[in-house]
Amino acid sequence: MRVTRLDLRNVRRFDEVSIRPASGLNVLTGGNGAGKSSVLEALHLMAYGRSFRGRVRDGLVRSGAPALEVFVEWREPVTGSDGSVVGGTERTRRAGLRHSGQDWDGRLDGQSIAQLGDLLSALAVVTFEPGSHALVAGSADIRRRYLDWGLFHVEQAFTPVWRRYARALRQRNALLKSRAGDAQLDAWDHELAQAGELLSGYRETFLARLEPGFRALTGELAPALGGTALEYSPGWRKHELPLADALLLARDRDRLAGFTSVGPHRADWRVGFASLPGREALSRGQTKLVALSALLAQADHLAAVRGCWPVVALDDLASELDRDHQERVIDRLLASGAQVWVTGTELPPALAAGDRGFSLFHVEHGRIEPR
Ligand SMILES: Nc1ncnc2c1ncn2[C@@H]1O[C@H](COP(=O)(O)OP(=O)(O)OP(=O)(O)O)[C@@H](O)[C@H]1O
Ligand SMILES: [Mg+2]
Repeated sequence: MRVTRLDLRNVRRFDEVSIRPASGLNVLTGGNGAGKSSVLEALHLMAYGRSFRGRVRDGLVRSGAPALEVFVEWREPVTGSDGSVVGGTERTRRAGLRHSGQDWDGRLDGQSIAQLGDLLSALAVVTFEPGSHALVAGSADIRRRYLDWGLFHVEQAFTPVWRRYARALRQRNALLKSRAGDAQLDAWDHELAQAGELLSGYRETFLARLEPGFRALTGELAPALGGTALEYSPGWRKHELPLADALLLARDRDRLAGFTSVGPHRADWRVGFASLPGREALSRGQTKLVALSALLAQADHLAAVRGCWPVVALDDLASELDRDHQERVIDRLLASGAQVWVTGTELPPALAAGDRGFSLFHVEHGRIEPR
């Protein structure tokens, strides 16, 4: 996928700006607070429904404006119903979103959309930013969201199962809080267990598919870590008992607590290292490289399944990685044919000296000028 045009209106400090990125590497420079990250936030918004720095209502709308608007146009290969690329042909797609923080209105290819998910499944963006280390060092919900986002893009049957599970979990928790009887709980436990086993199966298989790519990437980006592995924890003792039994065993305790203590909503995954005891032993920079490897492994997998690379956004690359790693990452991405967006207060050292071609944009005073 290659974005050919991105328009922002009332996004953070921007009144109205438009950018026409090139198909390969795009670099946005400008001083602190100029609005570089805001451009990537707008792109991220169109793929996730939120910014990597929070939800729309957490300050993404320009102060004083009623709502923000983002419009994005991109090219992507035409794929058949099985996802295979059809004869090298491409098509142009367009998406628009107006969001006030509460209400939103979206359009995809000229049609109004009923669910934000319709828009989010269209454009795929993978973002690496200063907060990305949380994928390795942060809480489990970030890692679950990573798996679920990937599955949402590569496995059509996943989202209905995810919704089923979320609904059953809400119902069971409400029943636990209202101290409902066993008969009522039995019905929802059954539904929760069925959806939960499916959900867990999808995630476990998906993580196993990501592992070879992830291992290759960490080998390339952080060879000092030795071999790496991805290990899934299902959220209950899955190797010992089915979820239905785990729910029944936990019922009395869950009644006291007022929520469901076992199941895929408590799942997590971790990175295992051949030469380190665990993630606590990683340096800050190594944590970032491991997180970046996980993000790129997912992008690589998505490319294999959907026939094209997601757009890759690297916010503040030079402050996140040293020069050698900047070069490795950029070269790997360009070799894959991905469209890449990089921001920095200066031209990243890896680009200033090398002979890599790129398009440069300068962000200043609420404007974006090609250089
Ligand atoms: N809701 C808002 N309304 C108006 N201005 C805002 C709003 N939110 C943020 N800003 C301003 O918009 C700018 C946001 O800049 P952004 O974070 O994109 O900068 P940046 O170029 O990435 O800077 P840095 O190099 O420091 O990362 C800042 O100047 C900030 O004060
Ligand atoms: Mg920034």
